[in-house]
Amino acid sequence: MNAINIKDITKKFKEVDALSGISFDIKQGEVFSLLGPNGAGKTTLISILTTILKPTSGTAVINGKDIIKEPLDVRKNIGIVFQEPSLDDLLTAKENLYLHSMLYNMPKEIAKKRIKDILITVNLYERKDHIVKTFSGGMKRQLEIARGLLHTPKILFLDEPTVGLDPFSRRNIWEYIKKVKKEQNITIILTTHYMEEAESLSDRIAIINKGKIIELDTPENLKKKIGDEILIIKGIVDDNRVRSLDFIKSVDLKNDKYIITSKEITKNLNKILEYVKRIDDIEIRKTSLEDVFLKMTGKKIEELDE
Ligand SMILES: Nc1ncnc2c1ncn2[C@@H]1O[C@H](COP(=O)(O)OP(=O)(O)OP(=O)(O)O)[C@@H](O)[C@H]1O
Ligand SMILES: [Mg+2]
Repeated sequence: MNAINIKDITKKFKEVDALSGISFDIKQGEVFSLLGPNGAGKTTLISILTTILKPTSGTAVINGKDIIKEPLDVRKNIGIVFQEPSLDDLLTAKENLYLHSMLYNMPKEIAKKRIKDILITVNLYERKDHIVKTFSGGMKRQLEIARGLLHTPKILFLDEPTVGLDPFSRRNIWEYIKKVKKEQNITIILTTHYMEEAESLSDRIAIINKGKIIELDTPENLKKKIGDEILIIKGIVDDNRVRSLDFIKSVDLKNDKYIITSKEITKNLNKILEYVKRIDDIEIRKTSLEDVFLKMTGKKIEELDE
């Protein structure tokens, strides 16, 4: 069953086409990532799906409810962690959660127990009575995710859950997301521009650029599309000959380096090297999501940011 059906959504802000004809489905219980550079349209899409923004055209159905016709029903079933911090700094961790439970009309006794449980889960129980202002960035993010889950939503939206965090805090949040996925059959949609994050967490990934989905598949399949292994040679290569080998997927020259992709590079290395005249530098490795991104967009994600 699908948790979300997105039907031909577009969004225009004056002259900017933030989203152009987005359509795809998200399955119940999957972790789905929207991976793309700054300005790709990730937050715009999340805002539309969470009924904060209206699309210019198109619609989406979330847990059987239409975002345009039944926005209030949609809201009941979802949790949101915004890209921008949204905790009240002058309230304690517990008070922030309590406020949220009131907004969602949670019965007081249920809320009390749930707040305690969730604070224990995110390792913030010891700090429950401290004001949020005294928390680190990672602790604040954990608390925001805990808050997004407090009213037991069926679908959780996380807009850049780990941006600006150190690698340790980032990993803590990944562990927490994995745990939530495993223990509760919740659907999670997250946006990120960290390849590693998308790869580590997601069942499926949509690569979004300039308001369009350019690829959508499992991390494994995305990598298979360009080949399992990648060979990078700096030197002199008869690239036409290499390209004509039947096991080769692609040969590109970028920044003085030949980037050669194939299903099996290591096994066929000798055959490739027959057409290599000089080697100044050489590298063979497994294909990463970053290579896929580079191949699809022609650029690294950081270059698109600029
Ligand atoms: N309220 C707005 N008014 C005008 N333009 C907007 C508005 N919100 C977003 N945009 C434009 O829409 C495009 C997509 O923005 P969006 O915030 O969705 O990108 P993003 O993928 O979330 O980027 P980031 O990774 O930086 O968060 C950008 O060109 C942005 O300038
Ligand atoms: Mg954004």
